[in-house]
Amino acid sequence: MPALFIFFLILFSWAPCMAKDGILLVAFGTSVPEARPALESLEAAYKKAYPDTPIVWAFTSSIIRKKLAKQGIHVGSIGDGLDTLAKEGVNVVRVQSLHIMPGEEFTALERSLLVHIQRHPGRFEAVLLGRPLLESDRDAHEAATAIRAMASAFRKEGDVLVLMGHGQKDGRADLVFEGARAIFRKDDPLVYMATVEGSRDFPQMLAEMEKGEMGNVWLMPMMVVAGDHARNDLAGSDDDSWASQLAKRGYKVAALLSGLGENPGIAEIFLRHTREAADNLVEEPKKP
Ligand code: CO
Repeated sequence: MPALFIFFLILFSWAPCMAKDGILLVAFGTSVPEARPALESLEAAYKKAYPDTPIVWAFTSSIIRKKLAKQGIHVGSIGDGLDTLAKEGVNVVRVQSLHIMPGEEFTALERSLLVHIQRHPGRFEAVLLGRPLLESDRDAHEAATAIRAMASAFRKEGDVLVLMGHGQKDGRADLVFEGARAIFRKDDPLVYMATVEGSRDFPQMLAEMEKGEMGNVWLMPMMVVAGDHARNDLAGSDDDSWASQLAKRGYKVAALLSGLGENPGIAEIFLRHTREAADNLVEEPKKP
């Protein structure tokens, strides 16, 4: 009997501090309706992996949140998402960055989380931040495999695959892009990559391509959603789109307008990052 009593005593004293997990998925956001399936399929992958866990979205772009609100679609900010999870009794938040690289958007996310924690002391026992898609050597190899697997549905042997990343001029992720590019091209030399806004630009990629054979070219965005950049800068009909510029030089060009979020192999990498996140932002970093 005393043993059972002690058991219940332990059980009840534990009950109030039981961990309740919640997930916050953070993306820049998109107001292009055709780009939504990428976010929806990521959400489906998370619901499958975490069936009994509340999952909340946050879009970091306030312009996009306002545009969507006018259409009756309400997605909150990072702070809104954390408020929602707290109201649901969540005390262990797993935040997943759906960014491709640890650039300015990711840095801003980390900072928003730290500011929120500071403003609401004791609100969460743990805030665990899942890293963006591409950081480690393993991430890059897995992403390259997943992207090539998706492209293999239409890409024939000898066909070139062009990937458009976002990038940021003189930004902090330029070197991450270069690292990923080296790995992607080592795995498959017919993959060419450049960014819309980063230092690795289209003319540099074109110079590289012109050294190779003039095969068929498939264009794909290396972004979570196939939004405005994919539809206009990459595959648009304007003279300055990548598609038009390549076609003008005699390449046979076609585009696959699906975001990386639609790729199950990419969702797997994000899910692994969510599982592996162990650095609790609420506490001092653990040092030996
Ligand atoms: Co942009």
